[in-house]
Amino acid sequence: MSPARPEPASAASPRLSIKADQFTESVIREMTRLALKHNAVNLSQGFPDFPAPAEIKRAAQEAIAADVNQYAITWGAKKFRDAIAQNFERTQGVSVDPEREITVCCGSTEAMISSMLGIINPGDEVVVFEPFYENYGPDAILSGAKPRFVKLRPPDWSFDPDELAAAFGPATKAIILNTPNNPTGKVFERSEFECIRDLCVRWNAFAVTDEIYEHMVYDGARHISMATIDGMRERTITINALSKTYSVTGWRVGWAIAPPDVSSSIRKVHDFLTVGAAAPLQEAGAVALHSPPEYYATLAREYTARRDRLLEILTGAGFRCFKPRGAYYIMTDISAFGFPDDVTFAKYLVTDIGVAAVPGSSFYRDPAEGRTHLRFTFCKTEKTFQAAAERLAKLRPAK
Ligand SMILES: Cc1ncc(COP(=O)(O)O)c(C=O)c1O
Repeated sequence: MSPARPEPASAASPRLSIKADQFTESVIREMTRLALKHNAVNLSQGFPDFPAPAEIKRAAQEAIAADVNQYAITWGAKKFRDAIAQNFERTQGVSVDPEREITVCCGSTEAMISSMLGIINPGDEVVVFEPFYENYGPDAILSGAKPRFVKLRPPDWSFDPDELAAAFGPATKAIILNTPNNPTGKVFERSEFECIRDLCVRWNAFAVTDEIYEHMVYDGARHISMATIDGMRERTITINALSKTYSVTGWRVGWAIAPPDVSSSIRKVHDFLTVGAAAPLQEAGAVALHSPPEYYATLAREYTARRDRLLEILTGAGFRCFKPRGAYYIMTDISAFGFPDDVTFAKYLVTDIGVAAVPGSSFYRDPAEGRTHLRFTFCKTEKTFQAAAERLAKLRPAK
């Protein structure tokens, strides 16, 4: 007779991940769930409520009909990687080898975490501008990096070069950049890049740049890729995606461009995280990336009009707005409404007024720093703006 197996010591659940314990669910995505629950106009999460281009949708349908239904090459279908390389050369003048320098991932979200996991070692630090797109916090925790935050200060969201220099040191592995920037709408200038470049070179650090809003620039602002700055081509990981430019956030197709040795590390992580991005959608992505120049000009023009429309609505309702030069968000100051903090105000807005926005604290390490801010997105139709305007008209700034 075999011996009886020992009983477990206690009926409590096994211990959960210490890493996962250090961050909460996404506040941005929680606001979308609240918007649905309260039937509110959703100006929180950055996804367009208008259709994606017909030609790109047709290309995806045709790829499925033609049975492009099995795994693509793990680092991306050749046709799509070729299109990414041609697109980068056309828009930024940077030539990259699609065979060795591109990894296609499940959205830029996966491109970012695969890149971080591909370069970070225990004890490494990453410099992050604050306010930051909320994913970068958990990305740092999951990859084991210690974040060093550097402030972008309103109204123009500039940084202090001395503060930035003080954040770099022998433990710095990378700086994470996002330009055009979510949530501030800042578009980094060449002189700022050169200042960052000098520090990356001095401390032998990477720049990981999230350029997902590259085509959403306004008032003559120009998007510059960090990889074009002298001395940065070899130490930059450029992250991008189909999500925002082609209004297909649900497709989950993005990529990382990096020198061959860095790409080989990213590719390994990516392979074991997800194997690959949806094969038929990569076929459609190749079509998307060959869109004519007018497509991008129209996109920027239409987003300028949407930005101006939302600025008018929010200003009319009593918000102080920081006018964005890029991306598709408006950061606001809510001090005039007299609420104790951003989360209380955001909850009141969604439940009593019927409009969802993102509390500013979700973009800061210390929630107190975002307590006077709320972020609204303008990737929406006129119908949505109209509904938001009607509801926000009920708001009253405190006397
Ligand atoms: C700065 C930034 N990076 C990445 C993402 C997510 O991109 P993707 O849908 O390609 O994963 C977003 C979405 O809002 C974003 O604002």
